[in-house]
This record gives sequence, structure tokens and C-alpha cells, in this order.
Amino acid sequence: MQGSVYRKVERDYDIKRQRAISEAKKFKQSVYDNNPRLAQIEDEINTISLKSAKARIFSDDLSREVEQQKLEVELAKLNFEYDEELKKIGMTRKDFEPKYECSKCNDTGYFENKICSCFSQQLINESFKQSNLSKIKEENFETFDYGYYSTCNDKEKYGIDKSPLENIDAIRKLAYKFSHNLDDPEQKNLLFTGSTGLGKTFLANCIAAEVIKQGKSVIYQTAPILLDKMTDYKFKFNKTEDEKDEYDKIFEVDLLIIDDLGTEAMNSAKFSELFNILNTRLLKNKKILISTNLTPQEIKREYEERIFSRFVGDFMICRFVGEDIRLLKKKIANK
Ligand SMILES: Nc1ncnc2c1ncn2[C@@H]1O[C@H](COP(=O)(O)OP(=O)(O)OP(=O)(O)O)[C@@H](O)[C@H]1O
Ligand SMILES: [Mg+2]
Ligand SMILES: [Zn+2]
Repeated sequence: MQGSVYRKVERDYDIKRQRAISEAKKFKQSVYDNNPRLAQIEDEINTISLKSAKARIFSDDLSREVEQQKLEVELAKLNFEYDEELKKIGMTRKDFEPKYECSKCNDTGYFENKICSCFSQQLINESFKQSNLSKIKEENFETFDYGYYSTCNDKEKYGIDKSPLENIDAIRKLAYKFSHNLDDPEQKNLLFTGSTGLGKTFLANCIAAEVIKQGKSVIYQTAPILLDKMTDYKFKFNKTEDEKDEYDKIFEVDLLIIDDLGTEAMNSAKFSELFNILNTRLLKNKKILISTNLTPQEIKREYEERIFSRFVGDFMICRFVGEDIRLLKKKIANK
């Protein structure tokens, strides 16, 4: 994969890395400015290290070996003094190291001769700039608020035997488990269903954040955009490398989130793309999360049997109930 997205991310990494290095240098210099003794010791260490390296080359010569040992002792003393000086100002050498965003690859993008997970996620983010994943900073398991869900057990109103709070608590647990269980072939895919404003997209973002934290890759896309893109791609004559990568990723990414299924204008090309996604990913044990306002009965009506049967067999259906949180938030804001 060497398309222009790849090159852009690679360039970004270079810049990011150089910035971390130069900031570390600047910081060190500012500490040295206030503590000139540190700079002196470092100079001495450098001089002696050089001498010692030279001495090592001629180590067959006994007198030089003695000389080298002497230098090593001096070096150890200086290093000790350096650490002591740092200690006085509450610092260690570690404070001078560049602060890389990724401690695995030190922002090189490569880890153990493979593309680092941060880099592959960056490739995905770059390819799907318009995707909603930027929300995961605000919408994640840590910010999840139970306060919007009623404790009232009203079967007539909500159509289930428990309160919306008990219901969302169970779904949240399932969702958390799902996000840590993507590779497990026994783990079913998730289908979030429920009317508008009940927190389906929020919980999908929680899952995305949790998955990314584990170094895995996620694509979030709404059904209309995803299926449009895919059918456009299929009918396009000259496909660029990037377009091909983007298409392939839909089948390969660790987790694919399809939001708002049922809002797209369907046609047979899109049906077949949707079936293609479901089928290919299910066969490869690649997890899918689908969110929709449609009820299972409506899905059965709107989609072909071969798609519906996939949902029933391979998805765990999570039914969201409660009050529209968007409205609740407005009410609170207007109080
Ligand atoms: N558990 C939660 N804690 C805090 N805020 C939440 C929670 N769930 C949802 N929200 C907020 O409520 C609003 C509606 O939630 P969300 O967009 O997830 O609903 P939805 O079920 O996806 O609706 P739609 O079917 O219209 O897409 C958003 O502003 C979201 O941030
Ligand atoms: Mg939504
Ligand atoms: Zn990395």
C-alpha cells in the first residue's frame, strides 16, 4: 500500500517525530542554561567517551587498556555527578527524552519491522476524514452517563420487562465485552436498534474508542455514505491506488461500524454491496456493528431475506429504549 494517503501519513510522522526531537533538545538547552554545570559535565563526558573509544581500538596494547580502564572510571564518576545534579532539580535523564505520541514505535510508524498499529489507524483516519471518529474524545465509556435513562419499569411504554436504565446497563456491558472480544469467533456481531436519540451512536463511539485503544483499526461510516462510496467505486472505470485501499479496508478493518442503516435510498447495487460486506466479513470473522432506527420486523420487510437471515443468525440484537436524549438535553439547557 503506497498510495498518496500512505505518503501523507508518512510525512506527518516525520514531522511529528522531528518536532518531538527538537522540542526535547530545546527543553534540555533551557535546563542547561539555568544549570551550567550540567552542560560542563556533558562536555566532559563527550570528550572522555571519545578518548575511550579511541583507546578501545588499540586495546591489544596493554598500556592503552589500563588507560581505557582509567577513562571508564572517570566516565562513571561523571555520569554519577550528572545524575546527582539532575536530582537536585528534581529531574532525571528521562526528562530529556523526546515525548513521542506512540511509545511503541516512537512515532516512526514501524514496530518490530511491521507497520505500527497507530500508523494503520492514522491511515484509516486519513482515508475516512469525514467519518465521525473524531467524536470519540467526548463519547467513550468514561463519559458514558446513565443519568439520561429512566429507572421506571413500564412495560406498556417501553415494551420490555425492565427499566431503560437496567436495559442500557446490560447493553453497555455487552458492548464493552464486544470491544475486547473482536477476535473471538464465538463473539457475535452487534445490531443496535431503537428510535432516535437513545444513544446508539454514542455507544458505537464508546466501542470505537475502546477498540482503537487496543491498537486495532476501526472504520465508522453511515450506511448512505458507505454504500454510495462502494457503488461509486464499483462503477468507476479508472481506480486509483488510494480508492482501492479504501475499498479493501472495508473488508479488512478489525471493526466496521455502519451507522443509520435504513436511511439510505436502496437499490439493487447497494443491496449487493451490503450483502457483500456482511458475507465477506462474517466469513473472515471480522466484526461488524450496525445501528438502525428500524425494528427487526422492518428490516425483514425492507431488506432481502438473505440479508435479514444474516442479521438474525450472526448478530446480537440490542434494543435501545427510553427517552430521546437530544430532547432531554434541550430541556435541561432551557431550564
Ligand atoms: N450514555 C450517554 N451519556 C451521555 N450522553 C449521551 C449518552 N447517550 C447519548 N448521549 C447524547 O445524546 C444525544 C443522542 O445520542 P445518539 O446520537 O447516540 O442517539 P442515536 O440513538 O444514535 O440517535 P439516531 O437514531 O437519531 O441516530 C447525543 O448528543 C449524545 O451525545
Ligand atoms: Mg445515531
Ligand atoms: Zn506507533
